[in-house]
Amino acid sequence: MTFDFDTPVQRAETDSQKWQKYAGRDILPMWVADMDFKCAPAILAALHARVDHGIFGYARPEKSTVDAVVDAMERNYGWKIDASWIVWLPGLVVALNVTAQAFAAPGEEVLTLSPVYPPFMSAPKNAARASVQVPFELTAGAWTINWDALERAVTPRTKLFYLCNPHNPVARVWRREELVRLADFCERHDLVLCSDEIHCDLILDPALKHIPTALLSPEIAARTITLMAPSKTYNVPGLGTSFAIISDAGRRTRFVRATAGIVAEVNNLGYVACEAAYRDGEPWRQALLAYLRGNRDFLLATVARELPGIVIEAPIEATYLAWLNVAALGLADPIAHFEQHGVGLSEGTYFGAAKGHYVRMNLGCTRATLAEALRRMKLALAAR
Ligand SMILES: Cc1ncc(COP(=O)(O)O)c(C=O)c1O
Repeated sequence: MTFDFDTPVQRAETDSQKWQKYAGRDILPMWVADMDFKCAPAILAALHARVDHGIFGYARPEKSTVDAVVDAMERNYGWKIDASWIVWLPGLVVALNVTAQAFAAPGEEVLTLSPVYPPFMSAPKNAARASVQVPFELTAGAWTINWDALERAVTPRTKLFYLCNPHNPVARVWRREELVRLADFCERHDLVLCSDEIHCDLILDPALKHIPTALLSPEIAARTITLMAPSKTYNVPGLGTSFAIISDAGRRTRFVRATAGIVAEVNNLGYVACEAAYRDGEPWRQALLAYLRGNRDFLLATVARELPGIVIEAPIEATYLAWLNVAALGLADPIAHFEQHGVGLSEGTYFGAAKGHYVRMNLGCTRATLAEALRRMKLALAAR
């Protein structure tokens, strides 16, 4: 079966957050992380059938939904999880906030590596916990962890470590040695490790594999809260269906207790989409990865050839998000400048970068949209 990622789908004047931001303005939205592609036919068919049933009462996952997740973990990563370890959630930003409340007390600290997806830094603060960020280093063309700085950042108040695996926005797939070293770091300092793996099925480099952090050893599994969802890969984030995998019963209870009365249940359609994605979505996912690889390669070639002053410093190994260094352009406000020329990017400072240094670009769009965005960016450079 072939899948069509090239035919544009009209998203302007719909409920799309990504497109509403620039309603009425000729600005291509390349910011928030959802894709402009219709989701897999298998998911659409399952949703249609569920809608035809016609009743949308309070939902619980069916056994077939749980089985689809359990089977996907084993098939994709050789990770044998027990169904009882799964905690269903309406989103992973929710999970980051719950984790901070469950595993750190007010005034205690949550460590992470930056730049990073903004809720990694805001979730602790939302609950009067502190966020401490250790900047990545650029070593031989790869974003790497500054281990000395990480050790120095630990205090007696550090209780939790947030890992983004693979990483948004630097698009890095963590290697086994790095994960083992991080796990050892968390064990030595007795930190709970929250591993957000929402992008794990979006590995673009065929030579690399996703390694769930909890798979490293039973000891590290016991201190790991793994966060996953079909939302990014299968383009169903608006259906609000995610899950944590927590093998340690004590930590799972603590996590669930922190959700009580606050976190809403997952909805009927989200469960249906989740099951169809993990059970039947693989051919579509493979086609998507091929298309995204094409977009990535097109971006890299175009930036190198036609956008002097914009630098992509490291390979885009995973995700459909590109982290662009725009410091050499000398723009006080790169976002405003590119918006003036018709391209809406994500502000690097939200991820912890210095003002004017970085922007993030979403490549989850048709090749034609990407080409048009890059054409406009070239004009933007000429108009400085
Ligand atoms: C690392 C990471 N975690 C979580 C989310 C959002 O998750 P949710 O929509 O389930 O809250 C994103 C969205 O881009 C993300 O990149």
